Amino acid sequence: MSKLIAQGAEAILSLEKHEGKDALVKFRIRKGYRIPQLDSKIRKLRTRREADFIHRARRAGVSTPRILSLKEDKIVMEFLDGERIKDVLNPSPKGKRFIIYELIGEAAARLHSAGIMHGDLTTSNMILKEGKLYIIDFGLGKSTRRPEDYAVDLFLLYEALKSTHFKHLKEAWQKILKAYCENYSNSETVLQRFRKIEKRRRYKG
Ligand SMILES: Nc1ncnc2c1ncn2[C@@H]1O[C@H](COP(=O)(O)OP(=O)(O)O)[C@@H](O)[C@H]1O
Ligand SMILES: [Mg+2]
Repeated sequence: MSKLIAQGAEAILSLEKHEGKDALVKFRIRKGYRIPQLDSKIRKLRTRREADFIHRARRAGVSTPRILSLKEDKIVMEFLDGERIKDVLNPSPKGKRFIIYELIGEAAARLHSAGIMHGDLTTSNMILKEGKLYIIDFGLGKSTRRPEDYAVDLFLLYEALKSTHFKHLKEAWQKILKAYCENYSNSETVLQRFRKIEKRRRYKG
């Protein structure tokens, strides 16, 4: 038995039973426009990369789903029966929103402190469960020490907040950055880059 959870451009996500428990299966789909050998290589690489970063992030103190089984184009992971931040942030009362901001800033700080760029740090890829903020979707993760890369993570996050949580943008950004700075020693350099990206964007219009 399998229940479709989401279908993205790259993967199909479904809820299945794994050894009697709910599990989330992320299967990377074939892309017909790619040469088959190359296609299988890319799917393998991204699946492997996602699993690696899920583990690395957890070692860095960020909550991530447990991996139950790994195949070349498929990850079976713990199903996080929680709340997607994208859906719960806006309707949440102030107290809960502030906790969420702090958790987001802290998670980003931990990832960056550990040399991990997430690559798609948006509220769609964060799930709140039992007071913990889980970060998912590491398929675009990158191992890097460049402040510019971390600034891109922050920029994507900022853009996501702007488009989906505009009403709370100001408070959100202030609180997220506060937690980010408190938990990451090199945050000032990253923020300088962030402001540069912002400026470049503004001039382009
Ligand atoms: N471990 C999980 N537990 C519960 N829901 C999940 C889990 N992983 C993914 N999802 C849900 O599926 C959606 C898409 O998964 P994601 O890994 O972000 O794939 P995509 O690359 O298509 O964005 C997420 O936004 C989330 O709602
Ligand atoms: Mg996603």
